[in-house]
Amino acid sequence: MAEVGFILNGRTVAVNPRPGERLSEALRERLAAREVKIGCNAGDCGACTVLVDGAAICACLMPVQQAAGRRVETVAGWGDDPLAQRLSAAFLDQGAAQCGICTPAMLAAAVALLRAVPAPGVVQVQEALGGVLCRCTGYRKIIDAVLQVAGGPADIDRSGSVGTSPQRIDGRAKVRGTEAYGDDVAPAGCLELRIIRSPYPRASFRFGDLVAYAARTGLAAILTADDIPGRNVFGVIPAFADQPVFAVGETRFRGEAVAAVVGTPGALHGFSQAGFPVDWAELPSVASVPAALATDAPALHAGRAGNVMCRGLVRRGDAEAGLAAADIVVEGRFSSGFVEHAYIEPEAGFARMVGDRIEVHACTQAPVMDLEGLEIILGMDRSRIRVVPTGIGGGFGSKLDLSVQPYLALAALTTGQPVRLTYSRVESMQSTTKRHPSDLAVRIGATRDGRITGMTFDGDFNTGAYASWGPTVANRVPVHASGPYLIPNYRARTRAIHTHCPPSGAFRGFGVPQSAIAQEVLFDDLARALGMDALEFRMINALDDGMPTVCGQVFEQGVGIKACLAALRPAWVAAQAEVAGFAQAGLRRGVGIAAGWYGCGNTSLPNPSTIRAGVRADGAVVLHQGAVDLGQGSNTVIAQIFAEALGVPLASLHLIGADTDATPDAGKTSASRQTFVTGNAARAAGLALRARLLALRNVDAGRLEFGAGQMRIDAADAVHTVDLAALPVDALGYVASAEETYDPPTLALDADGQGAPYAQFGYAAHLAVVEVDMALGTVKPLRFVAAHDVGRAISPVLVEGQVQGGIAQGLGMALMEEYLPGRTENLHDYLIPTIGDVPPIETLIVEVPDAHGPYGAKGLGEHVLIPTAPAILNAIRNACGARLRQVPATPERVLAAIREAANG
Ligand code: FES
Ligand code: FES
Repeated sequence: MAEVGFILNGRTVAVNPRPGERLSEALRERLAAREVKIGCNAGDCGACTVLVDGAAICACLMPVQQAAGRRVETVAGWGDDPLAQRLSAAFLDQGAAQCGICTPAMLAAAVALLRAVPAPGVVQVQEALGGVLCRCTGYRKIIDAVLQVAGGPADIDRSGSVGTSPQRIDGRAKVRGTEAYGDDVAPAGCLELRIIRSPYPRASFRFGDLVAYAARTGLAAILTADDIPGRNVFGVIPAFADQPVFAVGETRFRGEAVAAVVGTPGALHGFSQAGFPVDWAELPSVASVPAALATDAPALHAGRAGNVMCRGLVRRGDAEAGLAAADIVVEGRFSSGFVEHAYIEPEAGFARMVGDRIEVHACTQAPVMDLEGLEIILGMDRSRIRVVPTGIGGGFGSKLDLSVQPYLALAALTTGQPVRLTYSRVESMQSTTKRHPSDLAVRIGATRDGRITGMTFDGDFNTGAYASWGPTVANRVPVHASGPYLIPNYRARTRAIHTHCPPSGAFRGFGVPQSAIAQEVLFDDLARALGMDALEFRMINALDDGMPTVCGQVFEQGVGIKACLAALRPAWVAAQAEVAGFAQAGLRRGVGIAAGWYGCGNTSLPNPSTIRAGVRADGAVVLHQGAVDLGQGSNTVIAQIFAEALGVPLASLHLIGADTDATPDAGKTSASRQTFVTGNAARAAGLALRARLLALRNVDAGRLEFGAGQMRIDAADAVHTVDLAALPVDALGYVASAEETYDPPTLALDADGQGAPYAQFGYAAHLAVVEVDMALGTVKPLRFVAAHDVGRAISPVLVEGQVQGGIAQGLGMALMEEYLPGRTENLHDYLIPTIGDVPPIETLIVEVPDAHGPYGAKGLGEHVLIPTAPAILNAIRNACGARLRQVPATPERVLAAIREAANG
C-alpha cells in the first residue's frame, strides 16, 4: 500500500496503511496518538473526533488515505494554543471532564466551534458538540465550560479545603488527553486476543480440531475451559459464583464466551469467528421471567429450582391490615427492560508475566475483587497476582464484574508474552451486565388525612444467565421500595429469576431506580385521589429523625428528606403556575416530582476501606488512595478529606492511585460508598499521621508546613523545625506514616428484614418539567430541579456533576433506553441521551450532616438517578393525563397512554 503523509499537530508524518485502514487506527496504533479514543468504531459515539483541516470529523469513519496532505489536529497538539488552553481550563473549572474518555473529542469539537464563533450560544454549542456522546456529565457542565471561554472565568472557590471546589486533581491528564484507559496501556508488540462467542441465547457446541486450526492460522494459542489452571468460575458474590470463564458444553446467553484465540496483530487481522472450528446446535431458551417460571422451562442452574436464584423480604407490621384500614388504596403493575451502561470506553486492558508473577492492567471498579477472582481462576496464590487499574472511561456498576481480565491473564500465562484485548462495542453490549428488567406489583393505602397505612410490593427481576449482583438487587430493593417514608405496615418481596439473557448486575442503584418508579408514581395517584398537593403529601409521610424505617432502623440524626422536599417547594409552586399558563396547540406541559433515598455502602455486610499515607524524608506527603475514581471525583474528594484532617493544602499531596501492590484495599467503587467509607478512612489516616508528626516535637496542635527535607510546626508556643532527612525510614520508605481502616456500623437483617442495614442514607427529591406532543407522543424534558442531601458537600462542583450526570441517565431510562438482546447491541440502535436531550438542571445542595460521615458527608453516586424517572412520569401525567407504567416511555407507549386516559 502506498505511503500516506499528512500533518499531525504541526508535524509531518507518514504511514503505510492497510487497505481501508481508518484514520483512528493509524493515529492510535501507528502514530501513538492515544488521545484519540475509540468508543464504537462505527460513527455513533464521536469519541474519535479530531480536526481535519479545521473541521471536526469522526476519525473512525475516515479512511486514512483521505487524510493525505491534510492537517490533522488532536488535543495533544494544543499545548501552545491559547484558545484551547482557555477551553481546557474552563473544563477543569466547571468539572466538565468526569471519566474524561469523551473529553479529547469534546475539546476538538469545541475548538472547531470557538475558532469560527468566538462567543457561541447554548444552541450553537449543542449543535457543534452534538456528535459526541458523554455518559457521565449530563452535558450541562460541558456547555458551561464552552460558554466560559467567552464569558470569563467562573467565580469558584478552588482552595481545596472541604466545602470548596478545587480543580479535580486528576483533571489535567483528562484535558490533555494523556489519561491512559484500558486500551491505551499495552506495550508495543503485544499479542492480541479475540473471544469466540455464542451466537445463540442457548446452544450446545462441539469444537473441531483446534490444534490443526491453530497451526493453519499461525495462532499463538487457543484457549478453552481445558486451559484454566484453577476453577472455571467467577462471580462477585462468592456464595453465588456461577459464571464460567468459558462455557462448557452449553451456553446460557448470546455472546457467552466458549474459547479465545491469541495471536499477533497480523495473524488476527480480519479474524472472523465464522472460520473457527466449532459446531453449534441451538437449544430452546427462555428470555422472560414468565417463560423462565413456566413448569416446562429449561433449568439454567442445578439447585435453583424454578430458575429462582434468590428471594428478598422485608416485613414490618401487618401490610394487609394496614391496607384494609386505609380510606383509599391505589395499586399498579409496573415494568422496565434491560438498561445498558453504555459507558464510552469498552472493556480493555493487557496482561503480562513479570518473573513468575502475573500483572493485569485493565479498566475496573474493583481491583481487589478482580485479584480475588483471578486467584481462583488461575489457581495461583494472590501474592503472585498484581492488578493495576487503568483510567476508566465510565463504569456505573458494570465494571465491578470481571470482563477482559481472566482472558488476558490466561493468555499471558499460556504464551508467556504480553497480551492485549479490547472488546468491540457489540461484544461489550452483548456480554457485560445490564440493569435488571423488573415486573412490579404494588399496592399502597392511606387515610383521608394523607397518612400511609400500608404497602405491599412484589417484584420479579430478570437476573439473566448468571448471578452477578442479582442477590444484592433482591435484598436491597425490599429495604428501599418504601421510599424515604414512614410506612408502619409493609411487606416487600422480591425474586431474582434466571433467563437466557446477559447477566443483570449492578447499575447505579441496584434495582432501586426501578422500584422507585412504582412507589413514587403511586404516591402521585394517592395524592391525586386524596385531593392533596403531591409535595405536601410526601412531606406528611416523609421520615424524620427518630422515626423507624421499614427495617425498624431508627436514625436519631441526619434524616434529610424533609429538607430536600422543602428546598424543592418554591420551584414546585412556580413550575405548577408556569405549566398551567402554557397554551400551544398540540402540546401540553406538565410538572412532576419524586423523592428517593439510598443506603450508602453494602447492605448489612462488612464494608471496610483502608487508607495509607506517609511523609518522605524529602518532605513529600504521599497519599495511597486505592479507591478507583470512575470519574465521580473520589481521587479529589478523598484527598480533600485527608488534607483537611492532616492540616495541609490539597495541592501539596502526592497521590498514589489504585494498584494492588501499592495501595491498601479501599473496597470497590460502588454503592455510593467511597466518599463515606473511604473518606472516613482518609480522615482517620490524616488525623493519625498528624498526631504522629506533632508528637515529634511533643506538641498537641500547630500548623504543618513541609519543605525540602524539613517540616515546620507552627505551634502556639513556638515554631518547631524537624529535619526529616535525619529521621529513620520505615519499611514503606516513610519517616512517618499511618494506615487507618473504617468499616460502617451495620446490623444483620433478620428473617423479616429487620435490622440496621446501613450506617447512613442519602436523600433526594427531583422536579421535572416536560412538554408532550399530543400527536407524536414524544416527551421533551424542559428542565429539572434536583435537591440532594449530601450531608456536607466536600466539593460542590463535583456534587453538581454527579447530580447532572445521574439525571441524564434517569432521563434515558425514563424515555429512550431499552437493551434488547440481539437487536440493540450498538450505540446506533441503543439510544442514550445526547447533548440536545438534557435540559438545564438546577442543583439544590442540601446539607443535613450525618454523624457517621466524614465532616458530615453522605454518599451520592446512586441517589442522583433514583427520583428522575418517576418525576418525569409524574410530569407526563400532569401534562396530559397519560399514566405510564412501563419504561422507557417511548412515543407509542405515550400515545397509547394518552388514548387510554381519553377513554377514561
Ligand atoms: S469511535 Fe468513532 S464514532 Fe465512536
Ligand atoms: S466524562 Fe464524558 S463519557 Fe465520561
